[in-house]
Amino acid sequence: MGNVDLNARIPNNVNLKEDRRLQRALEAWQPKYIDWWMEMGPDGFQADEIYLRTAVDVGRDGWAHFDHVKMPEYRWGIFLSPAELERVVPCGDHFGDPAWQQVPGEYRNMLRRIIVTQADTEPASVEQQRLLGRTAPSQYDMRNLFQVNVEEGRHLWAMVYLLHTFFGRDGREEAEDLLRRRSGNVDSPRILGTFNEPVEDWLSFFMFTTFTDRDGKFQLLALAESGFDPLSRTTRFMLTEEAHHMFVGETGIGRVIERTAQVMNELGTEDVDKIRAHGAIDLPTIQRWLNRWYSSSVNLFGGEQSSNAATYFASGLKGRYKEDKYEDHVALDAIYPMDVPGNGGITTEEIPLRNAMNEVLRDGYTGDCEFVVGRWNRILEKAERSERMYLPHRRFNREIGIYASGHYDVKGNPITDAEWEAKHDQWLPSEDDLTYVKSLMKPCLEHGKIASWIAPPKKGINGNPFEWDYIRFDGTSAGVALGASPSLTG
Ligand SMILES: [Fe+2]
Ligand SMILES: [Fe+2]
Repeated sequence: MGNVDLNARIPNNVNLKEDRRLQRALEAWQPKYIDWWMEMGPDGFQADEIYLRTAVDVGRDGWAHFDHVKMPEYRWGIFLSPAELERVVPCGDHFGDPAWQQVPGEYRNMLRRIIVTQADTEPASVEQQRLLGRTAPSQYDMRNLFQVNVEEGRHLWAMVYLLHTFFGRDGREEAEDLLRRRSGNVDSPRILGTFNEPVEDWLSFFMFTTFTDRDGKFQLLALAESGFDPLSRTTRFMLTEEAHHMFVGETGIGRVIERTAQVMNELGTEDVDKIRAHGAIDLPTIQRWLNRWYSSSVNLFGGEQSSNAATYFASGLKGRYKEDKYEDHVALDAIYPMDVPGNGGITTEEIPLRNAMNEVLRDGYTGDCEFVVGRWNRILEKAERSERMYLPHRRFNREIGIYASGHYDVKGNPITDAEWEAKHDQWLPSEDDLTYVKSLMKPCLEHGKIASWIAPPKKGINGNPFEWDYIRFDGTSAGVALGASPSLTG
């Protein structure tokens, strides 16, 4: 692997100092990135010292360093996983050829589009989450939010490195545009739908990091199988950071469920009003948030049948999740039995496998999400509750693909417009739910304290206890205005 240069203006393991042109281009982009971060990054906490991990290496152990840092001073770096010896194109028409170290000319535009689409999600999520610090349920949770935010910033760096290095002027223009688009902006929105939806409460944040970051995991896993080797190595290292984001989401929701079960047991009730009066979030409301964010994230995989997906696979730019577990890496004659709407119900059609690659990736994703919900249900089981959470069917509430035009219930059965109108408030957050959850979003920033609607974590970060100064608040911090004590040490 390249030497890790931690003291450079841009920490990296790609020998940046040996490519002066590239180094200058990235150093020119850096202040623009910081301007974007100050404008669109976490609002109100930029002067505070946050206990963050920073990537400093790419080895299996010891790749991260933990310390209190101010976010604008975070050392965003460029790190690629070590090169694999004699790596080959893992799939498609070029299967078995040596992996590409340069962009294959014929695929240039397609590859740029793949990288830009991935890149755009990274700053988008930071923008979506920028106000959440003000309502953090604990210092521990606030720290996790900011950890996710700075790492999404690093993922943007990872993608911008590829654009600057391999796409010349076009790449530099794309890198500028990544700082210009804004989540939810009517004139200049982010590229993908879910990344334009506001994440305004912590229940949404935990669902987003569970389900939307998990879409990210699967996209990165497919890109890790790219025949374009620098993309593969970049995404492989991003996946190590991504794991923490999904941990934050899954354990976040797990702790909300744990708290709710505890309140139900204490009060001996399932009554929604009584649970709410006690400051907890009733399970049906948690389920509706789950349904909303899962169904939104399912769209991110694109249409069930896609000629773009077929071309990405054929060209070897994007593989399948764990490509090596398949025997046939060319997938030219294979078929995929796909459920499709027809005859007033659902029928199965045989689709050429290459055209079904989005659905293949969605299968992997859905299976992974089932495991998550299973682990949440074990929390209910342990609390001796009989209620269970479920994953809605992938046909439910879709906005993209062959199911977008019809309505389906949470089990995937086709229903009429009238049935949908009558029932969607049972399945998706209602105005009343939103008002209630919003009313709970009050900051709880004193050491060791936690909001009423969530249980504390089993353990803290990096061996530290839950009751610890994860945030050292500056006197000017929004946190101090919201009741936190300013730090004496910071
Ligand atoms: Fe990311
Ligand atoms: Fe992420």
